[in-house]
Amino acid sequence: ISVSCSFNADKDQNCDEDAVEPYELPDVLTLKNGEKIDRVSVWENKRRPQILNLYKKEIYGFIPKGIDKPLISKVLEQSDSALDNTAIRKQISLIYKAKGKELEIIVLLYLPKNTKNPPVFIGYNFYGNQTIIDDKHVILTNSWILNNPALGINDNRASEESMGTRNERWPIKKIISEGFGLATVYYGDIDPERCDFSDGIHPFFYKKKQNKPKGDQWGSISAWAWGYSRILDYLKKDEMTRKSKFILFGHSRIGKTSLWAGALDRRFDIVISNNSGCAGAALFRRKFGETIAKIHYNFPQWFCQNFNKYRNKEERLPVDQHMLIALIAPRPVYIASAELDCFSDPKGEYLSAYHATPVYELYGKTGLNDSIQPPLNKPIHNTIGYHLRSGRHGVTTYDWEQFIKFVKKHLE
Ligand code: GCU
Repeated sequence: ISVSCSFNADKDQNCDEDAVEPYELPDVLTLKNGEKIDRVSVWENKRRPQILNLYKKEIYGFIPKGIDKPLISKVLEQSDSALDNTAIRKQISLIYKAKGKELEIIVLLYLPKNTKNPPVFIGYNFYGNQTIIDDKHVILTNSWILNNPALGINDNRASEESMGTRNERWPIKKIISEGFGLATVYYGDIDPERCDFSDGIHPFFYKKKQNKPKGDQWGSISAWAWGYSRILDYLKKDEMTRKSKFILFGHSRIGKTSLWAGALDRRFDIVISNNSGCAGAALFRRKFGETIAKIHYNFPQWFCQNFNKYRNKEERLPVDQHMLIALIAPRPVYIASAELDCFSDPKGEYLSAYHATPVYELYGKTGLNDSIQPPLNKPIHNTIGYHLRSGRHGVTTYDWEQFIKFVKKHLE
């Protein structure tokens, strides 16, 4: 298998709605033995664990046991007068040590001043903490970064030149002025996209002579999900955020990760997945845009090896992505799509949220009532939220405005 591992891998479009063949989704509320579920207790005790296990075994991979020991944390920097004196900035190093090796995760945290227990958005960035804001105090990561000269990333290193180059994706002033905090981490601190398993967190768990995860062991998406939970461990201890609510956010490959992390760790109060596409919110069985064969060809390391057997055999998968969203119930979940992002299959992203609805209803919550996607730029903010905005794959101010509205509504 050749690995291209680029952000712009083979995107040859496969976006013909007429070519979508009829498919049948596995029923989220029917147990393996055929029994239909109509009680939360049966969902929670039987079906939910079955589905969670299938996702671990067949798609994202099991996270090794014994890995949840707390990371050592140290505040590296703090200021009470950040962002024109409107925010507190804190940078924290989380260190994972084992086998004589060390992994360092640096959390960049902004909190609104004079706000008690502000809800905090947690989200990975793609090119280093310094890219999300033009703030010279942000510490540059030492981790390997995929080159992107347009963003000032050369030689696979963070540099001053890259400061603030991704700030349009992170409207931090708005987030703060609306009373929210933001915790961000460079995702490569946990597992850099070097398309192999020689670095990041994976090698800490290899047995002798092992150099990559086995069949059902974790790929990168599970590793990033693990990292999200470790960031949360920290925020749940920090006196400034201990009592906060936490909103998990992710875009694209990290949108896939946020759904999976939200399913695994029920301490995340709200989950947001933006343009997550294949192996995120989109239904596999539509085979529209990116398919299993394509994603697996370009990014095999994101998944466990077992996922390989479903290339061009989507109908054999014991799950589909409505079940991933259902694992987040009854917590609010938001799925955001972009009109021109056909590679991520906006309609498939909507439909899995729609088909997760029966599980939300079991809890007395409102999901999505209509099998037809809402019109462009007409968000729905039920316990399952959804919007289709105009434009391409990316994160925009419009997206953030919706996320903030949605979160405010559901935290009340
Ligand atoms: C590639 C990949 C997508 C992914 C995207 C991203 O395009 O094929 O599945 O969502 O990268 O993370 O930007």
